[in-house]
Amino acid sequence: MKIVGLMSGTSYDGVDVAAAEFEVEGDTLWLRPLGHRELDYDDELRAEIGALLPPAGTTIEAVCRLDNRLGDAFAEAAAVGVELAGGADAVVSPGQTVFHWVADGRARGTLQLGAVARVAARVGVPVLSDLRSADIAAGGQGAPLVPAFDALLLDPAAGPRAALNLGGIANLTVVAPGAPVLGYDVGPANALLDAAARRFLDRPCDFDGARAAAGRVHQGLLAALLAEPYYAAPPPKSTGKELFHAGYLDRHLAAVGEPVPADDVLATLTELTARVVAAECDRHQVVEVVAAGGGVRNPTLRRRLAALGAGRWRLRGTDELGVPAQAKEAYAFALLGWLSWHGLPGALPSVTGATRAAVLGSWTPAGPARDAVPPTPPRRLRIRS
Ligand SMILES: Nc1ncnc2c1ncn2[C@@H]1O[C@H](COP(=O)(O)OP(=O)(O)O)[C@@H](O)[C@H]1O
Ligand SMILES: [Mg+2]
Repeated sequence: MKIVGLMSGTSYDGVDVAAAEFEVEGDTLWLRPLGHRELDYDDELRAEIGALLPPAGTTIEAVCRLDNRLGDAFAEAAAVGVELAGGADAVVSPGQTVFHWVADGRARGTLQLGAVARVAARVGVPVLSDLRSADIAAGGQGAPLVPAFDALLLDPAAGPRAALNLGGIANLTVVAPGAPVLGYDVGPANALLDAAARRFLDRPCDFDGARAAAGRVHQGLLAALLAEPYYAAPPPKSTGKELFHAGYLDRHLAAVGEPVPADDVLATLTELTARVVAAECDRHQVVEVVAAGGGVRNPTLRRRLAALGAGRWRLRGTDELGVPAQAKEAYAFALLGWLSWHGLPGALPSVTGATRAAVLGSWTPAGPARDAVPPTPPRRLRIRS
């Protein structure tokens, strides 16, 4: 079975699309990567998303417009994926998260935009969307969902291993012999870095970590950032740009009491990500960290992470396991689609905190399997008396 997975993360830089072929052999599921692409959002769409995200206010009209614009972007990406697959049986379109409602440490709701009907209309195959709500309804955080993929892929026999995703937020999955799978959002990966790059460099990110490499870590700012209570809270936990946004950075910069040069801000934020991630890897005494996401393309961040783990854990990229680092999450969503298609749960309660393992997502078109559709569509409606 061939499934196309889409992924658009908290960085809202674009949509990653991956095509995968799945084959079952006994209790082994084989995934053959058939190709992946990155489709950048255009500047206008990026600005539209940014203008709508918290803490900004918005209108229902703006939400509706963005929902449909994103639907078109995902439809385009899905079509590319179907082409890469040479025809697909299903598409997974998780949508762009615009709000994750958390109160008293519990997720109460979540909202992803990306008019799924537009995707289904474009590709003509069933589309799975809204993958988080079923887990939230089961009392879970609705995130992260990628650990199901990591748990099936990583073998903990030789010691605890971690899968790390460096997107807008840094997510960690930990698999250890005889222990339940752990997975949670560690803190910001690129979210604050990108906010600083936009503010000080007028660029979407610190390309190749060049400016951070030229700067010096500001110890006072770093200490203040590390005091964030989120890092000390026990998992399960999830976060996003509701917390780690440009205003958050501004507040901390204002509190420093002296101007901090742009390069030093970037160096400090890069160090923050590396330190927060490394502390979690040490907490779980992992022997290996397998990284993916846009942050692996930042050599300054990679270097700091590898240095902090030296002698205890090894940093590798998922490419070494056959999974392209930029597309890992898109492949993970394709896998979640495969599980849902077969009525199998995709969320891990040990990760999300749910009371049961939920089968994820809603299919569009909904209803019975396609072969149960009547062969002749009705042309008239009659009323029985
Ligand atoms: N060459 C690069 N140098 C530095 N950072 C990069 C580079 N390429 C990607 N990134 C970072 O990765 C982010 C996108 O990563 P991605 O995994 O797509 O995150 P998300 O899942 O949040 O969309 C960008 O916003 C940027 O911060
Ligand atoms: Mg992205």
